[in-house]
Amino acid sequence: MSGGSGGGKGGGSKSGIGGSGGRGGLHVRVKTAKKRSVSSTRWLQRQLNDPYVRRAQAEGYRSRAAYKLIELDDKFGFIKKARAVVDLGITPGGWSQVVRKANPRARVAGIDLLACEPIEGVAILEMDFMDDAAPDALIEALGSAPDLVISDMAANTVGHQQTDHLRTIGLAETAADFAVQTLVPGGAFVAKVFAGGADHTLLTLLKKHFTTVKHAKPPASRKGSPELYVIAQGFKGRGDSGAAENSDENGR
Ligand SMILES: C[S@@+](CC[C@H](N)C(=O)[O-])C[C@H]1O[C@@H](n2cnc3c(N)ncnc32)[C@H](O)[C@@H]1O
Repeated sequence: MSGGSGGGKGGGSKSGIGGSGGRGGLHVRVKTAKKRSVSSTRWLQRQLNDPYVRRAQAEGYRSRAAYKLIELDDKFGFIKKARAVVDLGITPGGWSQVVRKANPRARVAGIDLLACEPIEGVAILEMDFMDDAAPDALIEALGSAPDLVISDMAANTVGHQQTDHLRTIGLAETAADFAVQTLVPGGAFVAKVFAGGADHTLLTLLKKHFTTVKHAKPPASRKGSPELYVIAQGFKGRGDSGAAENSDENGR
């Protein structure tokens, strides 16, 4: 983690996962209780034996997802220079915790359909990001244009892989549109996507507006999951499209 206090000590990787607190630790076996289904027993067993879950508990992070952002930041270094951050799909708050620990000067505004417990320095909106009013509400809560937009939004899965995939890509595309409409020049955008090739429109948009666009699957992202992240850095600004000329006093 880039200078953060919430991770980065111990272990072989910069984020320290997989070391002493890793899979070598005690294995917890969960018995199937009468009211617990086989799949929820499996989920519980996986949670209890997951080194990232244990480490998140030990280090005060609200989600194991926090380590995905820490690992992405170890590789791409976008948090330290950020001053105004938008966190899309903030709940339960792990990513915003990571941002604030790594960079206590950063202001953060987050949004989620679900309630999120307060985090110091973070303005939290409980609303649908797809709501037309969400972009303005976020910028108002942040108090300025962002220089980093991060999105870990995932659509509720319906069990049909292609549908789940398309819905999450839809969220990422809307997040990218928001980033392109609001970021300051030089800003960065990080979002969850799914492997499988449906993100062509998203990549075309990002390549047009950012100097570098990369995909990465951080070690904390489960191997069996199609999830991966797109990291776009060096926002070129909106000058070419004329959007900058139409921007308001907040740079939107
Ligand atoms: C994987 S979780 C985010 C975890 C978070 N990054 C953390 O570290 O704590 C994905 C979140 O996206 C939210 N989400 C999905 N669709 C959304 C939407 N349309 N608007 C706002 N939030 C949404 C979900 O409610 C869920 O809380």
